[in-house]
Amino acid sequence: MATNGASDKPRRGAGRGGVARSGMARSAASRSGVPRQRLAGTRIGFIGAGNMADAMIRGLVQRSGVNPATIVATNRSNHDRLARLEQVYGIRTTREKSDLVAGSDLLVLAVKPRDIPDVLTVVGPMVRRGQVCVSVAAGVPLATLCAALPRVPVLRAMPNLASSVAASVTALATNGGVSPGAHALVRGMFECLGRVVEVSEECMDAITALAGSGPAYVYRMMEAMTEAGARLGLPGDVARLLAEETVFGAAKLVRETGEEPAVLRQRVTSPGGTTMAGLQVLEERGFREALVDAIARAAERARELRMG
Ligand SMILES: NC(=O)c1ccc[n+]([C@@H]2O[C@H](COP(=O)([O-])OP(=O)(O)OC[C@H]3O[C@@H](n4cnc5c(N)ncnc54)[C@H](OP(=O)(O)O)[C@@H]3O)[C@@H](O)[C@H]2O)c1
Repeated sequence: MATNGASDKPRRGAGRGGVARSGMARSAASRSGVPRQRLAGTRIGFIGAGNMADAMIRGLVQRSGVNPATIVATNRSNHDRLARLEQVYGIRTTREKSDLVAGSDLLVLAVKPRDIPDVLTVVGPMVRRGQVCVSVAAGVPLATLCAALPRVPVLRAMPNLASSVAASVTALATNGGVSPGAHALVRGMFECLGRVVEVSEECMDAITALAGSGPAYVYRMMEAMTEAGARLGLPGDVARLLAEETVFGAAKLVRETGEEPAVLRQRVTSPGGTTMAGLQVLEERGFREALVDAIARAAERARELRMG
C-alpha cells in the first residue's frame, strides 16, 4: 500500500491540487483511483538504472509495497549498479533490452537526455501494442518520443529525487493520444512516489526549474541556517537538526493546514519581534527577488539545454 501522506483536500486560494492558477495547468493532484493492486501487478521496466531510477525503485519497493519481482532494470554498462539494485531492492536486472521490453507492461525511460536517441533507436522496434511508456528525461519533447514509439502511448514526467521517500512532486504531461487506462497506470505509479500534478508540456521547463532544481535551493538555505546557528554558538549537529526540522515542520504545516505560506508567515511575525527583524534583513538583501530570479534562470537554462 502507498504510504505517502498526500492530502487530496483542495487548497485555499488554489484550484485542485493548487496548480490551477496557471493557465497552462490542466488538472491537479487528486488521486486517480487506480487500485494499488493493479499497479502492483504491473511489470515495470526501467531503461536506465542511475540516480533517478534508483530513487523511483526505492520509493516503489520500500515505501509503496510494490512487489520487487515485478520490476526489472537495465543500464548501459555498469554491472555493479545492477548488482546493487538486485541486492538492495530485490528487483531483477538484465543486460538485454529485448528481455526487459518483452517482459514489461510499463516502460520507464530513465537515461540522460543525450542518451535518449540511442535508446529510442534500439527500443522503438521492440515495443508492442498494450505497453505504455513514460520518459523522465528532462527536455526531451513528447513529439520526439512519440515519433520513435508510434505503437504505444507515451507520457512525459518530471519527478524529483524525493521519489525515494515517496515525497516527490511529479509533473505529468501527455499529448492527448493516451487512453484513460494507460494514463491512470502511469499516474498511479507516480502517486506511489508522492504527489502528481498534470500540466501541459510547455510547463515542463518551469517545473524543472521550480520542483526539479527546487530541493537544491532549500538545501542551500538549510546550509546557511546551520552555519548561522553554529556562528551563534550552537553545536554544529544541533544547528543542523534545527534547520532540518524547521524546514520539515514549516512544509508540513502548509500541507496539513492548507494555509497560504504568506498567511502562516504573518502569523509568526509579531510587530517589533525577532522574526520581523530577521525578515527585514532578508528583504534588504533581496532574498525573495534572488529566489525568483534563480528559478527564472533555471527555467531559461532548461530551455537552452532543450534547444541544444
Ligand atoms: N536526478 C534527478 O534529480 C532527476 C530528476 C528528474 C528527472 N531526471 C531525469 O532522469 C534521467 C536520468 O537521470 P539520472 O540522474 O538518473 O542519470 P544517471 O545517474 O547518469 O543515470 C543514467 C542511467 O542511464 C543509463 N544509460 C545510459 N545510456 C544507456 C543506454 N543506451 N541504454 C541503457 N541505459 C543507458 C546509465 O547506464 P550506465 O551507468 O551503465 O552508463 C545509467 O544507468 C535524466 O534524463 C534526467 O533528466 C533526473
